[in-house]
Amino acid sequence: MALENLKHILKQHGQTHLFPFVDRMTADELVAFENAVRKIDFRMLDVSESANARGKIEPIEACTLAKRALARTENATAGRALLESGKVVAVMLAGGQGTRLGSDQPKGCYNVGLTHEHSLFQFHVEKLLVVERTYGVKVPLYVMTSDKNHEDTVAFFEAHNYWGYGKENVGFFRQKMAPCTDFNRKLLMETPTTLATSPNGNGGWYISLLESECGADMRARGACYISLFGVDNPLQSYCNEEFLGAAVRSNADCTVKVVRKAYPEELMGVMCLENGKPSMIAYAEMTDEHRYAKDENGELLYTYGDILNMVFRIDALDRCIAAEMPIHIARKKIPYVDANGTLCKPESPNGFKYEQFLFDVFPHMNSVFLYEVEREREFAPIKNLTGADSVESARALLERNGVTL
Ligand code: UTP
Repeated sequence: MALENLKHILKQHGQTHLFPFVDRMTADELVAFENAVRKIDFRMLDVSESANARGKIEPIEACTLAKRALARTENATAGRALLESGKVVAVMLAGGQGTRLGSDQPKGCYNVGLTHEHSLFQFHVEKLLVVERTYGVKVPLYVMTSDKNHEDTVAFFEAHNYWGYGKENVGFFRQKMAPCTDFNRKLLMETPTTLATSPNGNGGWYISLLESECGADMRARGACYISLFGVDNPLQSYCNEEFLGAAVRSNADCTVKVVRKAYPEELMGVMCLENGKPSMIAYAEMTDEHRYAKDENGELLYTYGDILNMVFRIDALDRCIAAEMPIHIARKKIPYVDANGTLCKPESPNGFKYEQFLFDVFPHMNSVFLYEVEREREFAPIKNLTGADSVESARALLERNGVTL
């Protein structure tokens, strides 16, 4: 009966190519597989590959470095008060697969050090150790993982004794997974009894947080702000008084750190207004008109790229929970098992991954405040091993900032 039910669901969604797999499953395997299939939102698989048409795009203003300098003292005072009130928590996004870096370990375990071990995770925890020393408060850190890296991530923190920050101040929560398909939107199998899945992008982070013990802890503390950042930039600061204070004083739903593009052709998405609402244009979606447009001072009009480091008001996130977030699909190399049970590791993209992006929440917010930071002091993303945005370039920037590696 279970088999018939399952086949019925698969047929309804055009997935009969999975029949040979389910025919070979044991009763327990069938139950687990049916549960996994029932969790799939099959509407996701209908998403078009071409980008959605964009609305009216206009430049967005930022609090520039020069403007920031004028409010430094007031911002620092407000930020210090927020830290001391205990109403801020930190969230690190570390659920990505880091495929470009190509390490088998979670990206946060990557050793950026040269003469001693200094992982990305350690860089981030050290920032909170400084907060603790300076203000005498422990900001809780919630780390988002995925099914692909959860155990390894927790084990790494354990093995390093949480770098002295205290296990009780660090929580982990898993993001959701999405199915992977071939180019005909047929589900792929990772093993003869399980579907191929990948993390569903960083856009679902808040829902996953709320559904976890970390979310309950955040509520119990009565926190009002979340300082959120990505795992791959060892140079960034977060929970820093001036930035937090700017977020409090702007009263914006989200305050986003941005850097200026280094040159018009740089492969960086930029913040903009779309139909009057804060938004983001991916590099590939920019027209030359946007790419080269300049203001009266000769500065690029579309220049502010976000560095995945922001402060959210929690009440604003709560308001946006039900907002419809688009699904983005990307062509990727996805290992799979074929109908004969043979594992295939493609050398070129063979299918789609389905993701939601964090910045798609911006148009649903009442206000997004752009806060410029100096890229040489805050932006050293590690995406690749060598070249641009790589371990090499990040090490060079860290050393230029006086960090001994
Ligand atoms: P990236 O877009 O760089 O993706 O993530 P990635 O998966 O880490 O790396 P590639 O593209 O496979 O090489 C930016 C940030 O968002 C997090 C990442 O961990 C990183 O901090 N992220 C991304 C998630 O937490 N979950 C996801 O599903 C995707």
